[in-house]
Amino acid sequence: MSVTGTSNEYQRVVSGMRPTGPLHLGHYHGVLKNWIKLQYEYECFFFVADWHALTTHYEDPIDIESNVWETFIDWLACGLNPGSCKLFIQSRVPEHAELHLLFSMITPLGWLERVPTYKDQQEKLKGRDLATYGFLGYPLLQSADVLAYKAGFVPVGEDQVSHLELTREVARRFNHLYGKEQGFEEKALAAVTKMGKKNAKIYLDSLKQYQETGNVEALERGQALISSQGNLSLGDRERLYGYLEGSGKIILPEPYPLLTQHSKMPGLDGQKMSKSYGNTIAIREEPENIDKKIRVMPTDPARVRRNDPGNPEKCPVWSFHKVYSSENVQDWVVKGCTTAGIGCIECKKCVSDAIIENLKPIQERALEYKNNMRLVKEIVREGCEAARDIAEETLEEVREVMGLVHRDR
Ligand code: TRP
Ligand code: SF4
Repeated sequence: MSVTGTSNEYQRVVSGMRPTGPLHLGHYHGVLKNWIKLQYEYECFFFVADWHALTTHYEDPIDIESNVWETFIDWLACGLNPGSCKLFIQSRVPEHAELHLLFSMITPLGWLERVPTYKDQQEKLKGRDLATYGFLGYPLLQSADVLAYKAGFVPVGEDQVSHLELTREVARRFNHLYGKEQGFEEKALAAVTKMGKKNAKIYLDSLKQYQETGNVEALERGQALISSQGNLSLGDRERLYGYLEGSGKIILPEPYPLLTQHSKMPGLDGQKMSKSYGNTIAIREEPENIDKKIRVMPTDPARVRRNDPGNPEKCPVWSFHKVYSSENVQDWVVKGCTTAGIGCIECKKCVSDAIIENLKPIQERALEYKNNMRLVKEIVREGCEAARDIAEETLEEVREVMGLVHRDR
C-alpha cells in the first residue's frame, strides 16, 4: 500500500472504542486481539471514546462514567500492555474537540449527510432522538481523533471504513486550503537540490510526467525516491511529497484503515455478537453463566432426538469449537455429530469448559486491576499526558496555518 504523502517510517496507529458496556468475546476476537498484536509493531494509541458515546447516550451519562473504567480494566486484562501502547480517554485530550470545531468550518454539510452510518444508525436506534448536531458530526469528531495524531493506520471494522474515507477527504481539503506555506515553491526546490544532481533530475522528471499526464507510476517513482533519502529533514520530506503531488505542504497526512478480519466469533444465536442482540458472553462472565448460556444455545435443528445425526456447519456451537477447541476435539465433534455418536449436551459442555478455561487468566488479571484502581488510573493518566503532548503539537501547527496564533507580546 502506498501511503501518499507520508514517509514509511511514519506509522502511528490510533483507534478508539465507545464505552457502551462490558466487553464481550466479539470485541475480544474482533478488535482487541488485533490491537494486542499491533502494539508490538507500531506506536499505538488506544482510547475510550466517551464523547462518541454521548452522541447516542446523552440521556444517561452516568453509565458512561463507570463504563470508561471498566473498559480499561477489560483492555488491560486482555493484554494491552501500557509499556507498549498508550491508553487514554478522549475527553481528557481537549485538542480533539478543538480540532473537531476547526474541521467543522471547512466540512460541507453534504459530506456528513452522505456518510452511510448517519441514516443507518438513525433507523436502527429509532427509540433515541438522533436528529442532533452532535450526531451528524460523529464521523467528523472521529476524523479529529485520528488526524490529531497524524496516524498512518487505523484498525477498524468494515462498518467504519466510510468514516476513514471522510477523514481522508477532510485531511485533503485541509491540506489544500492551508498547506500553502509562504515561499513553498522555493523551499521545495531547495529541498530538491539537497538530493544531489542525479536524484534531483529523476525527481523533476517524475514530477513533470505525473503532473502532465497523471501517470501513477511516475508518482510512485518520485515517492520511492523521497523515501529512500536518508538525510532529509521531516519538513523537507513533506515538502517534496507535497510538491510532487501538486498539493502543497502536507500538514495532515491521510490515514488508512487496517481492516480487522471479520470476527470468527458469532453470538450465541449465530448472528453477529452484539449487546443489542442479547447474544453475548462477556469477558468477565461468571463461569456458571457461561455454562448456562451455552447449554441453551440453539443447535442444528435436524437433531431433534439424541439419535438424529446432525451437521456441525448448521450449528452455532460449531463456530465456538472452531475458535476454542483443539483439532482432536473438532474431529470428535464432526464424527460424533454426523453419526449421532455424541449428544449435544456433551458437545456443548466441551465448549463451555474450553471458554471458561481460556477466560480464566483474563478474569484473574481483571480482578487484580479491579482491586488496584490506583494503578489503572495511573496508567490512564500517563496515557492521557502522552496523547496530549502529540495532539498539542499538531494543534499548534493547525492553529498557525489557520491564522489563530494571537501572540500578545
Ligand atoms: N466509531 C468507532 C466505533 O464505533 C469508535 C471510534 C471513535 C474510533 N473514534 C475513533 C475508531 C477513531 C477509530 C478511530 O467503533
Ligand atoms: Fe451442534 Fe455439537 Fe449438537 Fe452437532 S453435536 S448439533 S455440533 S451441539
